[in-house]
Amino acid sequence: MTDTGKRRILVTSALPYINGVKHLGNLAGSMLPADVYARFQRLRGHDVLYICATDEHGTPAELAAQAAGVSVRAYCDEQHEIQKKAGEGFALSYDHFGRSSGEENARLTQHFAHVLEANGLIEERAMKQVYSIDDGRFLPDRYVEGTCPHCEFEKARGDQCDNCGRLLDPVDLIDPYSAVSGSKNVEVRETRHLFLRQSQMQDTIRAWVEASEDWPQLARSIALKWLDEGLRDRAITRDLSWGVPVTSPDGSPREGFENKVFYVWFDAPVEYIGATEEWSKKIGKPDEWRKWWRTDEGADDVEYIQFMGKDNVAFHTVSFPVTIIGSKEPWKLVDQLKAFNWVTWYGGKFSTSNKRGVFMDQALDLLPADYWRWYLIANAPEGSDAAFTWEGFQASINSDLANVLGNFVNRITKYCASKFDGKVPDAGQPDDAEAWIITELETRLPQLVQHYENMDFRKVAAETRAIWAAGNEYLTKAEPWVKYKSSVDDAAVGVRTGLNLAALFGIVAQPIIPEAAKMILDAIGIPEKNRTMNAEGLGDVAGLIDALPHGHAISPPDVLFRKIEDDQVAEWSEAFGGEG
Ligand code: MF3
Ligand code: ZN
Repeated sequence: MTDTGKRRILVTSALPYINGVKHLGNLAGSMLPADVYARFQRLRGHDVLYICATDEHGTPAELAAQAAGVSVRAYCDEQHEIQKKAGEGFALSYDHFGRSSGEENARLTQHFAHVLEANGLIEERAMKQVYSIDDGRFLPDRYVEGTCPHCEFEKARGDQCDNCGRLLDPVDLIDPYSAVSGSKNVEVRETRHLFLRQSQMQDTIRAWVEASEDWPQLARSIALKWLDEGLRDRAITRDLSWGVPVTSPDGSPREGFENKVFYVWFDAPVEYIGATEEWSKKIGKPDEWRKWWRTDEGADDVEYIQFMGKDNVAFHTVSFPVTIIGSKEPWKLVDQLKAFNWVTWYGGKFSTSNKRGVFMDQALDLLPADYWRWYLIANAPEGSDAAFTWEGFQASINSDLANVLGNFVNRITKYCASKFDGKVPDAGQPDDAEAWIITELETRLPQLVQHYENMDFRKVAAETRAIWAAGNEYLTKAEPWVKYKSSVDDAAVGVRTGLNLAALFGIVAQPIIPEAAKMILDAIGIPEKNRTMNAEGLGDVAGLIDALPHGHAISPPDVLFRKIEDDQVAEWSEAFGGEG
């Protein structure tokens, strides 16, 4: 932290894999909470850098390109744009949305491999691989399919069985065949690969995880479980042409590795750094990324927070730290990892082919981003998996957004327009009702900030809603519409306070529902500089509820939220799956 109290916060969300638009569960478990957190910290006045990218290497990209009949580069170009657009549609406020297939990542990945090898943490070993005689190539991971040795499922992929979920080694498949050509003319051959000697780093990594006592619990428990099982050495190269080429320290192709590239999980996390470098070029300060990543060049005061689904935790708490710490170079390590369980579709899996679940692009065809953002944060899969249901979604939107927030804002602004000429009234003195809401906010606002700092997203949404609900209760106590009949001045206090509350509700809504919040704040005419959530902005509650200049003109916003109707739920259940 600097003297001014300004923190420097680096936020990354797990890099979405390139093949296809992500579903709402993927969004809810990484990119969306990262965005909400980044927005909150920016509103606190901190220096935030939020980085994400598409994860573009590996066999799924090659196979999908092949199926589409285009080059893998062209496939990734197209898919990257699609995902970028979906992110913009959801108002994800990345400072940069990069690509792991860029040159920055290649150079950094090769650099790490060289220093790790120099430090004795990478070595070349012979291993057995499935080779397709008809295709004239080795078949890594998903290039080979066959019968699962555990459950006898006949279409198990080389790296994992989709039926029983077990991780597999391709050479263990029964009756293997090539996923490229279908040929069964395959055999096991010996070939050489680079291995990351994770076992050597077991104690170092454990000491680091154990010292990280303030990580949120889910990430920490998964990390410790992996460490208890013991770190195994892993092959970090593959027989593929799409990926980061394996080089010698002088940059020339490494002998014997001309047809191999780094394994996607080795280069993908390095892209957090690579994408930051892309960002710094974009803003015309090509060395700026170093201040975020090199502790010898200014990153020692950075707080680095990663967001991810639970399946990614091992890679972020073990494999990537092996790369970073093993380099013995002064790279910034993660300070906090926020991991999530799954969002399920009525308790089951999302699936495009079975028409189960909504994907990011489809969601935006149905409703504005804020509706989804609100529901997914309010029901974040934190303590356990969380089921998406249309019924739960409808109830949450209609109650929280349409009734509790939307009605409040509409009622008070319309009333002001009709009875007070659309101007913040000047008359009247605060009384019991105002004293009550002040006390209420004096406890609730600091709690809200604390939940954000703890990254407890369900609590963040619940507290935000509780603040809106307190506003409704205030109006019930203040009753400006009743008082108006006997004393216009008494009504004036209620309207003035109500308008200030509406502004405050818009301010605290910004991280979660930025578009609706903007509509509210624009309608009330809150200048940009007064939309912060910093200590100054939220501290003096008595001041907050009388912050608008008396006489200031407001206008009621357009309808903020439309209720979700039963027939919409029926229609969407039909199209995307639902109960029964
Ligand atoms: N693409 C991976 C997934 O979808 C996540 C990669 S995160 C990174 O599970 F750190 F490796 F980039
Ligand atoms: Zn199986």
